[in-house]
Amino acid sequence: MNRYVIANWKMNVPPEGIGGYMDVLENAPAGDAQVVVAPPFLYIPELVKKARRIAVGAQNCGDRKSGAFTGEVSAAMLRDAGAWFAIVGHSERRGVYGEGDELVGRRMALAVENGLTAVLCIGEDLSVRDAGLPRVTEHLSSQVRAVAQAADARPGGVVIAYEPVWAIGTGRNASGAMVAETVAQIRSAVTQFWPASRATTPILYGGSVTPDNVGDLVANGNIDGFLVGGASLDSRKFLAIYDGLVGRK
Ligand code: PGA
Repeated sequence: MNRYVIANWKMNVPPEGIGGYMDVLENAPAGDAQVVVAPPFLYIPELVKKARRIAVGAQNCGDRKSGAFTGEVSAAMLRDAGAWFAIVGHSERRGVYGEGDELVGRRMALAVENGLTAVLCIGEDLSVRDAGLPRVTEHLSSQVRAVAQAADARPGGVVIAYEPVWAIGTGRNASGAMVAETVAQIRSAVTQFWPASRATTPILYGGSVTPDNVGDLVANGNIDGFLVGGASLDSRKFLAIYDGLVGRK
């Protein structure tokens, strides 16, 4: 499966509870896209116990193998706990906690080395978007290039999530057409800076995705799935987004 719908709970637990949430998702009809749920670290084992078809992911992953790194959780530990995915470089990590491309690259490299699929988030803020597509392209290309360098250009096991910072948690999503033209630029940056990567590296969109805007994003966005924050906290909304991707309505 090369399409993904990923729930990023951030520092939240769904109001319906973990058991109820997982039951709804596990009992839904299967489709041609992988569902991934990324809870706070602490809940990974509980989700893994309940997961049959769903894959469990982490919202970050350590940039070192082990040692005196207070507050970090290593990729090997995540794999050991049953996670198969790790989000790296989310804009909240970059913006709120000051994580830069080099650190994100190290996190990504260790995730991949340890058998996790890294979900690399990239995206521009509003001032860059307002400056026009060439500036957006420059910004995203430089994020791809920097991370590729830091990760020793290791392309296997990476999914890219295009998440414009101005669309995250704001209720303002990018249109399908805007996503498509941006994704084309990201694809060419990936081909340029990760020559070993296949042109098939999946590219997801994230930023205020809801059941209401999923149709336009699927029809026009040229994407391979979604990274969903707010709407992923309600299993039925999340499922409606999944259904929108796999064309089930
Ligand atoms: P949002 O978050 O769907 O709440 O905008 C997306 C994300 O941060 O991955």
